[in-house]
Amino acid sequence: MSTRAVANDFDQISPEYDATRLPLEPATLDGIVRALRDRGVQRVLEVGVGTGRIARPLEERGFEVTGLDGSLGMMAHARGKGVRRLVRGSAYRLPFRDQAFDATLFVHVLHTLDDPPSALSEADRVGREGAFALVHPGTGSDPAPRGGEREEGRRAFYRALAREGFPPPDRQGGPGVRERLILNIIPPNDVITLSDREVTEPLSQALGMFERRANRHTLNVPPATLERAVASARVELGDRAVTFRRIEALARWSRHSRTGRG
Ligand SMILES: C[S@@+](CC[C@H](N)C(=O)[O-])C[C@H]1O[C@@H](n2cnc3c(N)ncnc32)[C@H](O)[C@@H]1O
Repeated sequence: MSTRAVANDFDQISPEYDATRLPLEPATLDGIVRALRDRGVQRVLEVGVGTGRIARPLEERGFEVTGLDGSLGMMAHARGKGVRRLVRGSAYRLPFRDQAFDATLFVHVLHTLDDPPSALSEADRVGREGAFALVHPGTGSDPAPRGGEREEGRRAFYRALAREGFPPPDRQGGPGVRERLILNIIPPNDVITLSDREVTEPLSQALGMFERRANRHTLNVPPATLERAVASARVELGDRAVTFRRIEALARWSRHSRTGRG
């Protein structure tokens, strides 16, 4: 899928994006700030800056952040929050010279890319300390390739949508599943753990984003069909909840420096 096509999807999602995604935990932000400062990072390029949910708080903490995104719709929200340096572009061809920034950062972006290795290599090129990404590595006790019970909310929705005649997308796994695949295929130089805790979530939580048409795979589904599929999944899931270990970490890929310091 071209950057333009992805951008077009995110343009449509942008009005509902912030309301349908969990906010970044303060501890996660603190961890990112610490890891970047430890490496003397001041100038950051956030690739896939979206609505500025991370760029803005990083600016408030003294970083000089440039945000790049293919979607003007998403960046309009970032601008509305006060993010000033915004560039429209592709993650695969960054319009910057080698090592133009101290570091590049991806937050909730890698799983949306068709070709994460190319984007990471390009981000490494323009970041002196390499490319960083917020990731959610699995644990030894949670090796389920399709995300185990945590993905059941999403899967119930796709089953309901299939019953309505809309086949599920090729990639049914959520962001976490795809992220783990990426970490296996392109092992980072370092993985800095930011937080590790037990979390309980209702399985129906996954439905909010589908309901509000804030997911790329449902953009072409007629509203009445979408409503029926969500209602059916909601009945199936009831008030079931899942408890799991959520690990958040900052992965770093760098060809310039191979030594881990985190
Ligand atoms: C899931 S959003 C994450 C936004 C933000 N980082 C956050 O965590 O809130 C992914 C963003 O990456 C952008 N994106 C996806 N593929 C891209 C590409 N190839 N080039 C540039 N931006 C891209 C999308 O437009 C979207 O704004």
